[in-house]
Amino acid sequence: MNSAPPPDQTPPPENTLKQLEEAGALSHFASSVAHEVCNPLSQIVLATDLLAGPRPMNDDLRKKIVGFLRQGADRIDKAMKSMLQTCSPIETSMTAEDANSLIEAALASLTEAPSVRIEKHFTPDLPAILVDKKHIIETIAGLCANAIDAMLPAGGTLTLTTSSKIFTSSEREGWQRQSWFRAGDHAVVIEIADTGHGIPENKMGLIYEAFFTTKAAGQGAGLGLTIAKKVVDLHHGRLEISNQPEGGVLAVLTLKSSAQP
Ligand SMILES: Nc1ncnc2c1ncn2[C@@H]1O[C@H](COP(=O)(O)OP(=O)(O)OP(=O)(O)O)[C@@H](O)[C@H]1O
Ligand SMILES: [Mg+2]
Repeated sequence: MNSAPPPDQTPPPENTLKQLEEAGALSHFASSVAHEVCNPLSQIVLATDLLAGPRPMNDDLRKKIVGFLRQGADRIDKAMKSMLQTCSPIETSMTAEDANSLIEAALASLTEAPSVRIEKHFTPDLPAILVDKKHIIETIAGLCANAIDAMLPAGGTLTLTTSSKIFTSSEREGWQRQSWFRAGDHAVVIEIADTGHGIPENKMGLIYEAFFTTKAAGQGAGLGLTIAKKVVDLHHGRLEISNQPEGGVLAVLTLKSSAQP
């Protein structure tokens, strides 16, 4: 008999706060807030002072300053939304979607990285997945952004693979500890593989923690995977992230398909 706790009772990693402190995550949070909120805020104050000041300005300059204002406000908006999403319940609206199309939408939302080659191995005619479209697109985009960040500036290959599967009872054993899946369940599997620097094994236990990031302040708030995990759990799906033996990271997102028996 398996004595592992069911998914909602999985014990949290021990000494998470201490580990986060040691990894510099808490002080990084302070500097992330400074960069994500205080910096654009000073940008807004400066732009407002310029607009309100006595200096005569032509339309071009005025447009530039207004653009500057908008950029700062958007940056704060994004940071606050991420922080709120982390702390508050996520609202969902489920529709039947095609996983391949969601990946395309996620890729379209990313900033282009010319040194990264994108390979797609899509299985056509996948069964539909019942998901919150917006949140799953954001989740896939976040995983792809992490993969791309890990390959920059040198570049590499981002490989996206989709397939469908039906869980068998033997597969269920291996997944039982955290899985919502039962034998006979239909699912769609989305794999996101990169050829980047990978995740140090001693940091692997921290990647889902809020504000854990190895990126420079202003480059990453360390909230992407925290929110992704929350979204995937809400879908009763599964997200597994591991280093590949040949280097780079493989993220596997498994979501129930609507083609239930
Ligand atoms: N594909 C990957 N390759 C290497 N490291 C990764 C990968 N995915 C995640 N990580 C590590 O996990 C950390 C946490 O990722 P997460 O997406 O939560 O935050 P972030 O990308 O740093 O910031 P944010 O997503 O909030 O902009 C990253 O900073 C990085 O160290
Ligand atoms: Mg991220």
